[in-house]
Amino acid sequence: MHHFAYRDGTLFAEDVSLAAIASEVGTPFYCYSTATLARHYDVLAEAVAPATVCFAVKSNASLAVLKTLSLRGAGADVVSEGELRLALRAGIPASKIVFSGVGKTERELAFALVSGIRQINVESIPELEALSALAQRMGKTAPIAIRVNPDVDAHTHEKISTGGAEHKFGIAFVDALAVCRRAHALPGINFRGLAVHIGSQLTDLAPFRAAFTKLASLVVALRDAGVPVAHLDMGGGLGIPYTAETVPPTPAEYAAMVRETVGHLGCELTFEPGRMLVGNAGVLVSKVIYVKDTGTKTFLVVDAGMNDLIRPAMYAAHHDILTVAEPAPDAQRTPMDVVGPICETGDTFDRNLDLPPMHAGDLIAFCSAGAYGAAMSSTYNGRPLVPEVLVNGDKRCVTRRRPSYDEMVALETLPNWL
Ligand code: LLP
Repeated sequence: MHHFAYRDGTLFAEDVSLAAIASEVGTPFYCYSTATLARHYDVLAEAVAPATVCFAVKSNASLAVLKTLSLRGAGADVVSEGELRLALRAGIPASKIVFSGVGKTERELAFALVSGIRQINVESIPELEALSALAQRMGKTAPIAIRVNPDVDAHTHEKISTGGAEHKFGIAFVDALAVCRRAHALPGINFRGLAVHIGSQLTDLAPFRAAFTKLASLVVALRDAGVPVAHLDMGGGLGIPYTAETVPPTPAEYAAMVRETVGHLGCELTFEPGRMLVGNAGVLVSKVIYVKDTGTKTFLVVDAGMNDLIRPAMYAAHHDILTVAEPAPDAQRTPMDVVGPICETGDTFDRNLDLPPMHAGDLIAFCSAGAYGAAMSSTYNGRPLVPEVLVNGDKRCVTRRRPSYDEMVALETLPNWL
């Protein structure tokens, strides 16, 4: 469910024409829909109520998106001091912020303690010991969960699977009981419970069910051992339909599975969804620079590159591509490779995509680009980060402007010998 649709032959975000935004801010740009964000958040929050939904900031770090979600009640899942500062700046209360990640530095942990966040998800024994020592030095108590690695195959792309024994994440399931007991006993540590995250873009409930069932058995074992467990952090959310053929479970089905697996434990629950809240709430709009016919192939060379949307190059991910001008129903379609301007063959968004007649200057939209799109972009090939625009009904705002070339080099210094 999203709010990008054709109206009078042109693609709109809610009540705003994407072509109108393009003529105002230039291309490429990301555009997000408030109504889609709101709906996705509300549907999930209602399904898992009274749990806390902590939006995974890594999926979309736009301050305006964070604030939109925060005003509906969202907390944040952060993985760095930068994300924590952003979440606080968006007005998300510290009491709704959880800090995940395998390599939090002492500086980052200290900032989290000073900020008084809800919970730090600890992923290793050295981190636990460092945090205990740091909290004592600071005269604080660190509220923590132990992130458990349940050794479950998430059946998703290998680069975004995180819950297997071979992965760097969490405490091995077999060691978890002992580590939690230790955490419970350590000074400076308030052991609240457990966390788990087995991977992203999961479109099947079975791996979640397997992981949550193991988590529940650990809660029982801990309580038997006299260690109270009051909180469970269930990790990231469901996958999204990047194509019409993929039909992920609904939030209601997901919530039912959560209740079946851990509901009887009476724990307070936290969720860390990213993609399912913002993925389909964003598009990347780009302009055709050239239509290049090599005799063997037609390339649609567009002004967005892999630096703006790296998912196809990095995960062989698919993003549906729409022409902003609605094609006539009887338009003759020919196969084209949609490519960016970057000097790598990997800078290819789609191959042999059947498109209506295309011309230089035409606009296209990469769908489902709201998650891990702008957030993973870079200035590779000397390209400025692209603007982000938030639409709300018939209102729009450039929430992040395109930097100038001067700003792009502003942090550079030449040594005095040059
Ligand atoms: N919690 C933790 C601890 C995570 O590591 C992640 C994602 C999430 C929550 C949010 O997961 P989600 O609800 O979005 O599935 N760049 C990749 C995805 C990387 C996911 C990393 N961790 C992509 O573009 O597919």
